[in-house]
Amino acid sequence: MTKYQEIKNNLKIEPKTWLITGVAGFIGSNLLEHLLLLDQKIVGLDNFATGHQHNLDEVKSLVSDNQWQNLTFIEGDVQDYNTCTQVLHNVDYVLHQAALGSVPRSIADPITSNAANITGFLNMLQAAKEANVKSFTYAASSSTYGDHPALPKVEENIGNPLSPYAVTKYVNELYAGVYAKTYGFKSIGLRYFNVFGKRQDPDGAYAAVIPKWTASLIKGEAVFINGDGETSRDFCFIENTVQMNILAATASEEAKNQVYNVAVGDRTTLNILYSSIQKALAENNVHNNKKATYRDFRTGDVRHSQADISLAKEQLGYTPEFAIDAGIKQAISWYTERS
Ligand SMILES: NC(=O)c1ccc[n+]([C@@H]2O[C@H](COP(=O)([O-])OP(=O)(O)OC[C@H]3O[C@@H](n4cnc5c(N)ncnc54)[C@H](O)[C@@H]3O)[C@@H](O)[C@H]2O)c1
Repeated sequence: MTKYQEIKNNLKIEPKTWLITGVAGFIGSNLLEHLLLLDQKIVGLDNFATGHQHNLDEVKSLVSDNQWQNLTFIEGDVQDYNTCTQVLHNVDYVLHQAALGSVPRSIADPITSNAANITGFLNMLQAAKEANVKSFTYAASSSTYGDHPALPKVEENIGNPLSPYAVTKYVNELYAGVYAKTYGFKSIGLRYFNVFGKRQDPDGAYAAVIPKWTASLIKGEAVFINGDGETSRDFCFIENTVQMNILAATASEEAKNQVYNVAVGDRTTLNILYSSIQKALAENNVHNNKKATYRDFRTGDVRHSQADISLAKEQLGYTPEFAIDAGIKQAISWYTERS
């Protein structure tokens, strides 16, 4: 039995109370779905800045009525400290996902990203420390590797941030480290590498590459590749990300005060990704063999990204269950069913 399976069995026997911030978003709503299916009690917080009621509605349709009753949803902002203290009442584990994602969004409006991602983070961290929660796990980012050229990316070797967004996520890690040192409040940061899967928003100027291209191909619209298409990423299917959150939340004290890469340890170029999406769409009877249009590289983007996931494997017992192709298959079916 894997560590993950063992933990899920234990949670079923002895349910806990979890706070998920950003619960109406992509990753937050997937965490919600998995944890409700494990009969956990959930407090969900979101201000709908980029999340959607329809994500919550979909989760509701996937769990039993009793499981849905285990969710207390609060519409509120992590930038408000009182809200943070209020939602932490009787919470065991915190999964802090609320933030404004997207490198280009942060370049267009660094002040708003800073407020949500740094002030919001500090509020949650401080309130969680005061509430004496059992664990605090937060969404960090692979953007923290910045201009460090080494591949694969190892947690301890980071470069300079390349965008305001990357600064905010790095500051989260700095605060987490200082809280461990100063107050003995240890947390775990999860450096997500391009997570994808169902409920990731395909709309808007700041949509991530997989949902954005999929939506455009379904609608027969032009797809743009920034640069020559040889830019690469370690695309991580949502199920692996959920696993890492559950492992991190329940980790031993020795595994805390640490950041972990959350990825598969693989690297896929945008050109290959584009053909994989077209292939998966064709399997769902959406045929679009249009060639993509190449345009300039995007400011702030890292050229290549691939994670070393050995630390997560050794310290947390992480066993990624989905490689990119298996994930793409599931994600594309979900998007086509809803088109
Ligand atoms: N998706 C990825 O590939 C990826 C990669 C690295 C890091 N991350 C991080 O993971 C987390 C979740 O990202 P996601 O992809 O699910 O994005 P998302 O936009 O779908 O979810 C973020 C959620 O947080 C909520 N939110 C934003 N600001 C808030 C605030 N001030 N108060 C309360 N709620 C607020 C949004 O409404 C949304 O529901 C974020 O912290 C993001 O920076 C994501």
